[in-house]
Amino acid sequence: MKKKVILVTGASGYLGSRLCRELFNSGHHVKAFVRRTSDVSSLPPPTDGGSSGGTLELVYGDVTDYPSLVQACSGCHVIFHAAALVEHWLPDPSRFIAVNVGGLKNVLQAYKETGTIEKIVYTSSFFALGPTDGYVADETQVHPGKFFTTEYEKSKAVADKVALDAASDGVPIVLAYPGVVYGGGKVTTANTVANMLVERFNGRLPGYIGQAKERFSFSHVDDVVNGHISAMDKGKLGERYLLTGQNASWKEVFDIAAMITQTKKPSFGIPIFILVFYGWMSVLLAKITGKVPLVSPPMVRMIKHQWAYSCDKAKAELGYHPRSLEEGLSEVLPWLKSSGSIKY
Ligand SMILES: NC(=O)c1ccc[n+]([C@@H]2O[C@H](COP(=O)([O-])OP(=O)(O)OC[C@H]3O[C@@H](n4cnc5c(N)ncnc54)[C@H](OP(=O)(O)O)[C@@H]3O)[C@@H](O)[C@H]2O)c1
Repeated sequence: MKKKVILVTGASGYLGSRLCRELFNSGHHVKAFVRRTSDVSSLPPPTDGGSSGGTLELVYGDVTDYPSLVQACSGCHVIFHAAALVEHWLPDPSRFIAVNVGGLKNVLQAYKETGTIEKIVYTSSFFALGPTDGYVADETQVHPGKFFTTEYEKSKAVADKVALDAASDGVPIVLAYPGVVYGGGKVTTANTVANMLVERFNGRLPGYIGQAKERFSFSHVDDVVNGHISAMDKGKLGERYLLTGQNASWKEVFDIAAMITQTKKPSFGIPIFILVFYGWMSVLLAKITGKVPLVSPPMVRMIKHQWAYSCDKAKAELGYHPRSLEEGLSEVLPWLKSSGSIKY
């Protein structure tokens, strides 16, 4: 295997840090793009020679700061662009477009200026394709753009169009669309399943959220990382690949968790109007504390829809093999227990 110089944006994040570790372990030179304020504890320590032959350096910047990005791209063969604001609500919603769309535009511009980059793997999201109420969607779905449940969804849909337009203009970009990413690793707010399980097992979420028909697609973080690396190695330029997993409701997630831990299932569903009320209260509190709430009105809007996808194309073309929720949660729950986050 030829050692590549690879820039990973969002390297301090939940997905990006796992991706950096895997690329490093595969013997590549990883340039982990982080901010001066980033918590880099989930990354391997910078080194100029690991046992795999991999090397890792921290490069500092911000995706909204073009000069820092273009400097980081210098000498790179591949960019994984995974940096984004991944929240269902923020006090300043304009940040979503600034970072999630503006950051991608800067990456595309930096590609043109750098001249050494052979491939960009852009981390999109199932949200960029839009809801799938009553059916299972594939890569042919284009976001209808009529409504967006969250500003995050809107920013990922706008960025998706920017990425597809770039592909039509000949930029060597491959688009990856993870589902709800779960599994061990950094517990940022983007690690929704870990956060929900912590609430559930600490008694703060006594009932089910959403209904049995409202499905999401759950992708294990290690499967998503492998899917990204396959997208670098085998992904066809300009193509979209859904890196999703088992389509299931949050009720099923809680039921599987109860089965694995041999604990009681919730006995009732939390009515939507209570979640909406709780969401508004949480947002009011967040405006005072500055802490992003677990539940917000946009998040409640989102869970009222279905987000179910097929990853058959990634299976066929990338060799993507998503594990089942039962398999994934059988690893997540003991990990949360051993870290002291939950008890059962
Ligand atoms: N988590 C999911 O369920 C999920 C599902 C589908 C798609 N995705 C996509 O996967 C990608 C990674 O998400 P994640 O789950 O790893 O989220 P995350 O844990 O919140 O990580 C986001 C990363 O982006 C970085 N970032 C944010 N703003 C930045 C800026 N202005 N300049 C440079 N870096 C910035 C963060 O840096 P700091 O550490 O400094 O904050 C962090 O490293 C995103 O593109 C997201 O849309 C995630």
